[in-house]
Amino acid sequence: MSLPNINPTTTNSWKKLQEHFNQVNNMHMKDLFAQDSERANKFTIKWDDFYVDFSKNRITEETFKYLLELANEVKLKEAIESQFSGEKINQTEGRSVLHTALRAKKDAEFYVDGVNVIPEIYQVKHKIESFTNEVVNGDRKGFTGKPFTDIVNIGIGGSDLGPAMVVESLQYYKNHLTTHFVSNVDGDHVNEVIKKLNPETTLFVVVSKTFTTQETLSNANTIKDWFLKLATEDAIAKHFVAVSTNIESVKNFGIDQNNIFPMWDWVGGRFSLWSAVGLSISLAVGYDNFDSLLKGANKMDEHFKNEDFKTNIPVVLALISVWYNNFFKAESEAVIGYSQYLNQFATYLQQGIMESNGKSVDRNGDAIDYQTGTLIWGEPGTNSQHAFFQLIHQGTKLIPADFIGFVKSLHGNKNHQDKLISNFLAQTEALLNGKTKQEVIDEGTSKEIIPFKVFKGNKPTNTIFINKLTPKSLGKLIAMYEHKIFVQGIIWNIFSYDQFGVELGKQLASKILKEFNSDKITNHESSTNNLLEYYKKLR
Ligand code: F6P
Repeated sequence: MSLPNINPTTTNSWKKLQEHFNQVNNMHMKDLFAQDSERANKFTIKWDDFYVDFSKNRITEETFKYLLELANEVKLKEAIESQFSGEKINQTEGRSVLHTALRAKKDAEFYVDGVNVIPEIYQVKHKIESFTNEVVNGDRKGFTGKPFTDIVNIGIGGSDLGPAMVVESLQYYKNHLTTHFVSNVDGDHVNEVIKKLNPETTLFVVVSKTFTTQETLSNANTIKDWFLKLATEDAIAKHFVAVSTNIESVKNFGIDQNNIFPMWDWVGGRFSLWSAVGLSISLAVGYDNFDSLLKGANKMDEHFKNEDFKTNIPVVLALISVWYNNFFKAESEAVIGYSQYLNQFATYLQQGIMESNGKSVDRNGDAIDYQTGTLIWGEPGTNSQHAFFQLIHQGTKLIPADFIGFVKSLHGNKNHQDKLISNFLAQTEALLNGKTKQEVIDEGTSKEIIPFKVFKGNKPTNTIFINKLTPKSLGKLIAMYEHKIFVQGIIWNIFSYDQFGVELGKQLASKILKEFNSDKITNHESSTNNLLEYYKKLR
């Protein structure tokens, strides 16, 4: 069975939403709150340690009803079942999509081509666990007999962003090992990292699903060459491990068979941090914390799979986002984490959301005439308040935003936490209410300045309030966005799990690389010819 194939714009609910939009698009959320004292309760989902308030959106009960109808009309329930049951819903690559299996319980069953993959997943998890314990406890040693002090994750895209974001987010839970990430093919990146390292005490984790990625192989080779200037060939077995589906190429690179952590083609790169791709997470925070991260994600999976759509957090967030994207024509969404630990969260989501849903052809291969993937961006609050919030408050663009906050701070500084959370709450209130001309006048503002101090308000936000940032709650949060991506892909009738759009640039880059040593370049259009010649002359 394949995914449903329904053009959302042909559904009854879409048509109802369009008509409804024409009636309500000018309404102010302030009025909606004034008319219904129960509004916040109606549009809040309390689940586990999550409190998700989506009442500060430009929706009414009618909007919500039609959005839920849309989910049913595009056969979302069936699509969810197809994904979880291991059907090859990544049709363009002929693959199942089973990152959810990676965090499933040991007695679960997930089938790929008739084979339950859970036992294999647990074998790899045990390997991650024992390897982590050996490194963290100092039982595994480098070539001069010293325990490891530093870990370097060498990877890019999904083989970098997920682990890097989680290690940053769970900094509080970190052990004594220092973790570094090398991703960019920019040699200055790898050199900046190398200069801090002692080869005797550094472990290198080369992560590449395909083991063909230019950036990762270049960085891994540069690091290997540097390492071999200071150590002998047999030391590689002690210092280099790899995570990949391409076992042969890993061996050809010179990595010991025992140091290979397998992954599978039914795990998409941007959804892979739950697999051995998360080895650097496990090393950084310990296996138990890594396992808690997985358990949290599994809890969100169960919620997503079983909960009614109207109280299903990823479904509701996805539907609201479609409302803005396709009816209000909002171009982008912001994600603002009120925690410095979430510093890299938006960057991580950029790949998840934009690589998955940045598509313009539907599941029939036909060009589509409605908007798909949103642009995603963000920085932590309160820093972002002093950077780009001006535009969200008073600019001309509609930017729906997710506000993510944690009730408790990790270091327990109540004074700072109260200030942080007062900002977290104040911003969504300010975005909702704005400030009227009368309020500006009442503040005693001089007449000529009044227009500049008026805020229209009516700017939508979701508040995702979580008790505490723990490995488990982070797992739930990441999985929540993964499922939101899936729901939106289903509604937009696109394939969310391929990424052919990144190939063309890669192919041209390898062609251009060969041309740097050739004579006069004339085979491109004049702009690229000129730029190439310019570089050749000055490099
Ligand atoms: O950018 C394209 C992409 O294929 C991503 O989807 C992936 O996460 C990244 O490259 C890295 O790929 P690999 O893990 O195979 O090196």
